[in-house]
Amino acid sequence: MKKAKLPLSRSFQIGKIDKRIYGSFIEHLGRAVYGGIYEPGHATADEDGFRQDVLSEVRALNVPIVRYPGGNFVSGYNWEDGVGPVEQRPKRLELAWGVTEPNTFGTNEFLKWCKKAGSECMMAVNLGLRGADAARNLVEYCNHPQGSYYSDLRIKHGVKEPHNIKLWCLGNEMDGDWQIGHKTAYEYGRAAAEAAKVMRWVDPSIELVLCGSSNGHTDTFGDWELTTLDLAYDKVDYVSLHQYYDNKTDDTASFLAKNMAMDEFIKTVIAICDTVKGKKHKKHTVNLSFDEWNVWYHSNDDYVERWSTAPHQLEDVYNFQDALLVGLMLISLLRRADRVKVACLAQLVNVIAPIMTETGGGLFRQTIFYPFMHMSNYGRGTALVSQIACGKHDSKEFTDVPDLDGIAVLSDDENELTVFAVNRDMEESYALELDLLDFPDFVPVEHIEMAGFDRKAENALVSCPVKPSNAALPEVDGRTATAELRPLSWNVLRFQKKQKD
Ligand code: AHR
Repeated sequence: MKKAKLPLSRSFQIGKIDKRIYGSFIEHLGRAVYGGIYEPGHATADEDGFRQDVLSEVRALNVPIVRYPGGNFVSGYNWEDGVGPVEQRPKRLELAWGVTEPNTFGTNEFLKWCKKAGSECMMAVNLGLRGADAARNLVEYCNHPQGSYYSDLRIKHGVKEPHNIKLWCLGNEMDGDWQIGHKTAYEYGRAAAEAAKVMRWVDPSIELVLCGSSNGHTDTFGDWELTTLDLAYDKVDYVSLHQYYDNKTDDTASFLAKNMAMDEFIKTVIAICDTVKGKKHKKHTVNLSFDEWNVWYHSNDDYVERWSTAPHQLEDVYNFQDALLVGLMLISLLRRADRVKVACLAQLVNVIAPIMTETGGGLFRQTIFYPFMHMSNYGRGTALVSQIACGKHDSKEFTDVPDLDGIAVLSDDENELTVFAVNRDMEESYALELDLLDFPDFVPVEHIEMAGFDRKAENALVSCPVKPSNAALPEVDGRTATAELRPLSWNVLRFQKKQKD
């Protein structure tokens, strides 16, 4: 067995983990809303038409914030179409995904769903075909208590109390030419700055996310962030990052190293934010909102009937190696918990999602459900510096890939220490020796693992073979605890402080 070491100390802290790092995303796309979270008439639907089987899975994932309503969808969306009496709402041709949007579900329904899910809403405004005016009206509709046209309209629509949405996205992927109302960096920077200004005038307590690049490989990446931040720095709190990875070349070694590219992406965006901060002599720091991330490729070429409603769209069925990369991407997010304050697994239900439903039927947990659930539930508190000494390997796309990657988290009450780790080695186990430098009174209580599956094994409605199980607890010797990390495995090592008698 190969050997690795991880020294852990409560003095070496990356930073406090903002719980919103475990956010997710619901877009009006495919069956995310219709047939996903919302299906009146379904056997489990409640009085609002929300599927309770889905709600219960969302609660298991413990998702503190959900981005809505898009995505590409938002750039053509009139938010006014989705409020008020349902029978009066218009059906619209939805240009982003080539379907018909019935608008029977909109802002107030989503906010109600969020409450039931135990989540907050991260609301995106349309800076594609619309702009500052529609955006400030939506803030007024959602957040102003009463006594103005839009706040009173909300009350007329049956919602007395304001929604008080705190976090707002200034559009979506405005750098991409696929985006409805795509803009140059200068055009977007100015539009975002003006929208931000008036949105804050309506509600000064809101936080705003500027659109960064659609991924770290676009021709304009870097320049886009520099130009837009130069124009809007004072007006925003976060800049967004989006990134999806795939394994189209069927090269597992390179696929499982892709979170190293994510590390670089994050590092570069931080550098750009701080460059603009320095250039402008500002005190205020712009942080990162990684508000779309996941594996996405299995469903890319799916045929969708034009102008249909809620078709099967982007319904990736994930396999075991996808779950490992999702765990690795979460590790990368926590590694920069000092600057990544918000992140959204894209998406939540049916569309490139951990939860898959059958319209009119049941649901199942995809493979990627589990690492997210583990980290969202046990990865709250403070991220600790986690430098693992282990072997390295090269893949076709990456060099010096550490065989192991991981992160340790100390809970807020300092009674729980959890190590999340992936063994990327496809052949050999590792004995990971944790040096619990100043955790002498901590004992192992659980080792959850996902291991031993074919890398292409998937879950389905009929059977879900890919799931976690309990492995042997780490062996304790003095202040070290040694756990076996099997080849190609996801591991959650949980320690608790011994209770005094
Ligand atoms: O999440 C699916 C799509 O991916 C989103 O609509 C868009 O923002 C991104 O390109």
